[in-house]
Amino acid sequence: MNIFTNDVMKNKVVLVTGGATGIGKGIASLFGQYGAKVMIASRKEQVLVSAAKDLQQAGVEADLCVCDIREPAAVEQLMVAVRARFGGLDILVNNAAGNFPASIEQLSPNGFKTVVDIDLNGTFNMTKAAFEHFFKSAGGNIINISAPFAGWGVAYQAHAAAAKSGIDSLTRSCAVEWQRQGIRVNAVAPGAVIDTEGLERLSDALAGDAGSTNACQASDIANCVVFLASDAARFISGEIIRVDSATGVDLLKLPST
Ligand code: HXC
Repeated sequence: MNIFTNDVMKNKVVLVTGGATGIGKGIASLFGQYGAKVMIASRKEQVLVSAAKDLQQAGVEADLCVCDIREPAAVEQLMVAVRARFGGLDILVNNAAGNFPASIEQLSPNGFKTVVDIDLNGTFNMTKAAFEHFFKSAGGNIINISAPFAGWGVAYQAHAAAAKSGIDSLTRSCAVEWQRQGIRVNAVAPGAVIDTEGLERLSDALAGDAGSTNACQASDIANCVVFLASDAARFISGEIIRVDSATGVDLLKLPST
């Protein structure tokens, strides 16, 4: 079986949250390049329209849906839209996230809650809905976007690190619980990625040259995601793969005293 072909994702339907910008757009584009039909979802209609147009101009069968993944009712509507447009779903990429740099002292309860709601609860809402609507009966593939620092302490990112650790845990639990139903669940933990809102937001807090020479491209993350969704990874589930060239360890610097 030759897995690494140009049409490796032909006839597959992929849904990418946060798929209009940054890493999500890179992931959506690469799936499309390999033949997948692509649905992108996010809160912002304007960027979705522009990204869907880019995909379509590149020859990808693509559509968009406005959705706040914090809202279970909106997530239900998204699943209905995917069914109506593409007839099914093979791959879910939980990429949408919210973030800002803030010390624990600066972080209000609502600030902490907001990031956990988007990143962790949003990932759960999407995962559960995709399972009920599609994967329970037909199997499927889920790739969550995590962060390297989820596994250890980090400055200015207590909220995001807590949310991403939760995503890592959810990844492992779903993988075990759904193993017999033909559903693989993995996560990719990107380091700093150039030309992304995340890097822009965090750049002042980033240590060393994480924001320049050590930053990777969205395509570096997308390649790993497509690999995990492919049959080349058919025995990989419950894994969290760092794609950061080992730069994630000291990504954020502490304030000088
Ligand atoms: C402290 C802040 C803050 C900041 C917001 N808050 N920004 N606190 N410092 N810079 C607080 C607010 O004061 C408020 O708390 C609470 O957070 C909710 O803010 P809202 O603006 O009302 O929330 P909302 O409109 O839902 O917006 C969510 C958001 C926003 C996360 C705050 O930034 C957003 O929509 N982001 C989406 C895009 C994004 O962040 N992309 C980058 C992802 S990068 P109070 O108490 O005042 O009510 C990423 C990579 C991680 O995830 C890994 C990097 C290496």
